[in-house]
Amino acid sequence: MRIFLTGATGYIGSAVLDALLRAGHQVTAIARDPEKAERLTAKSVTAIVGELGTPKSYLAALEASDAVVSTAFEYSARGVSLDRQVLEAVLPVMAEAAKKQPRTFIYTSGIWVLGKTSTPADEEAPLAPAELVAWRPDHEQLVLGWGGSGLRTIVVRPGIVYGGGRGIVSDLIKDALNGLVRVIGPGRNHWPCIYDRDLADLYARLVANPEARGIFHANDEGDERVNDIVEAIAAQVSQTPDIRHMPMAEARKKLGPYADALALDQKVRSPRARALGWAPTLRSVAGNVARLLEEYRGAQRR
Ligand SMILES: NC(=O)c1ccc[n+]([C@@H]2O[C@H](COP(=O)([O-])OP(=O)(O)OC[C@H]3O[C@@H](n4cnc5c(N)ncnc54)[C@H](OP(=O)(O)O)[C@@H]3O)[C@@H](O)[C@H]2O)c1
Repeated sequence: MRIFLTGATGYIGSAVLDALLRAGHQVTAIARDPEKAERLTAKSVTAIVGELGTPKSYLAALEASDAVVSTAFEYSARGVSLDRQVLEAVLPVMAEAAKKQPRTFIYTSGIWVLGKTSTPADEEAPLAPAELVAWRPDHEQLVLGWGGSGLRTIVVRPGIVYGGGRGIVSDLIKDALNGLVRVIGPGRNHWPCIYDRDLADLYARLVANPEARGIFHANDEGDERVNDIVEAIAAQVSQTPDIRHMPMAEARKKLGPYADALALDQKVRSPRARALGWAPTLRSVAGNVARLLEEYRGAQRR
């Protein structure tokens, strides 16, 4: 299939890109940095040097694709409005193209839209988004609202991604190697997590399965407590790091609403993804720390 990918240079997007290429798809990707675009070209990707905020630079390529996979997000003051602006520019174009030939649009959301969960939350669970992502349910609805006969629209809600050299878990590994890990709050909360390659495998399945539409959670269902993750990492590094629990008031001062998102206590289930035959190959962070350390070190060497 011809796939248009945004965020191909990012943490999730680069894993998704590898999975799509492994599955034999033809990928066109937008990258805002010419050097990163060159690295994509070296992987046989058609790279467009462009910017999400100027859809003119990429709409023609996007319109010619069977599927659009959106994993980009700009972490800046305009990030949320840019995300909406992109959806409003892209979805009508896809819907129009879908009148002639089926099209697919996949949007990346996240499990923080669920808020604190009292029982394990599947895709039907009510939303109570963390303040940081209070805007996200509207964007999910915008995407799902464009779904119709020819256009499949899908929302993926990944858990906290682990693996490789980026993301929240890699930051814990980095801090442990540097001798001090800070935990937001008491650390008794559960994080829903997902290995980057397992997540990417789900995107590849969603692209290829003409029946898949709607919301898909993506987590390993390991129900791990933050303290267990941190202690497992601390036990594997050569010099045991200090672990400091940062009181919530201090964490909020330092990190703003991100602190509350990290302190969420969540248990999540992914039954819709499993019904497609998807099963995560890794089922926990704590049980795979040796491997994750290796992957982290490998990523630093590259
Ligand atoms: N990581 C997680 O654990 C996790 C979990 C759940 C949900 N999510 C969600 O998944 C999405 C992606 O997260 P991530 O961790 O993969 O982020 P990331 O590593 O920061 O990647 C973001 C990607 O978007 C691209 N990008 C940003 N602004 C752009 C612009 N103006 N024009 C073109 N490209 C632009 C970046 O390009 P550059 O390479 O040029 O910066 C990069 O490729 C976010 O919406 C995030 O909330 C992430």
